[in-house]
Amino acid sequence: MSVFGVLTGGGDCPGLNAAIRAIVRGSIAQGHTVVGIRQGWRGLAEPDVVPLDRRAVAGILPRGGTILGSSGWNPFREAGGIEGLTETTRALEIAGVVAIGGEGTLGVAHLLHTELDYPVVGIPKTIDNDLAGTDVTIGFDTAVHICTEAIDRLHTTAESHNRVMVVEVMGRNTGWIAAASGISGGADVILVPELPTAIEDVCDRLRQRHADGKDFSIVVVAEGYPLTRRSGEQQGPVVQDVDTYGYARLGGIGRVVAEEITRETGYETRVTVLGHVQRGGTPTARDRFLATRLGLRAAELAAAGSWGRMAAVRGMEIVDVSLEEATRERRSVPPAWIAASGIVE
Ligand code: F6P
Repeated sequence: MSVFGVLTGGGDCPGLNAAIRAIVRGSIAQGHTVVGIRQGWRGLAEPDVVPLDRRAVAGILPRGGTILGSSGWNPFREAGGIEGLTETTRALEIAGVVAIGGEGTLGVAHLLHTELDYPVVGIPKTIDNDLAGTDVTIGFDTAVHICTEAIDRLHTTAESHNRVMVVEVMGRNTGWIAAASGISGGADVILVPELPTAIEDVCDRLRQRHADGKDFSIVVVAEGYPLTRRSGEQQGPVVQDVDTYGYARLGGIGRVVAEEITRETGYETRVTVLGHVQRGGTPTARDRFLATRLGLRAAELAAAGSWGRMAAVRGMEIVDVSLEEATRERRSVPPAWIAASGIVE
């Protein structure tokens, strides 16, 4: 019988609790015990650990957020971080850790495994859906659902007032949420970092809609979109500051795009920044189902001592891939999605 640790790192998302529950139940079924590590990697270095039995995870399946708390604390950047982490692992006789995270958290997991032979497996989560090695990440479906509902709501008020509604969504450096929710909500323009449409083309499309008698429009813009001109000149994306993993914190491009549209077309324009609403609340059934299946696979990987792997999705199947593959590069929106969103004429 072994003791496994589980942690959630980086930005939270709906579905994390479903994954924690599955890891606990899956591990117990195989005769192991689980401890929860609080606040991401920090809880291992500055020990903050709670026992997780079946009772501790009862009722958490539909709850958003994470019962363990989360942080972007990085042991490679903090003095004594690695020493603390290895000491706690030894002292609590933790046989291995299941890290539920995105690029940053799993990047740390990969480094720990390759540099220190640390026993860790990963589970992919991020509303951004930008992790390689898996078709989809926990949280993405719920975020797309929330954004699509917002776009539907904005449609009716846009129509009443003949306005252009600019909706800024998250996604960091990729446009997965913008493309999926924009397509699902029937947005008229979708702006993503992968293939940034020139603002002049955006304005032409809005004028064309007016000429066709449609004097309202919905523009969905990913926070990572750089304002782009036909000349090829680019501004942005708009950066607020830098987070603990060293990634730029984005936000604000919606206002810039709206100002450009108003100046160019004279149309009345409003901006909605969906922000952290996209990460809050109850997970969709699809995210609960995904998180449960990934959690169970991670428990199997841990029980088998298959360290350095990440539970992942390929088509309809749950598979596992190396953490190296998962963190090697960021996954962009495929060209077919971009074509489907009408970005390419
Ligand atoms: O990675 C998830 C995400 O929500 C991104 O889409 C967004 O850019 C970022 O996290 C926001 O980070 P924070 O919660 O630190 O403001």
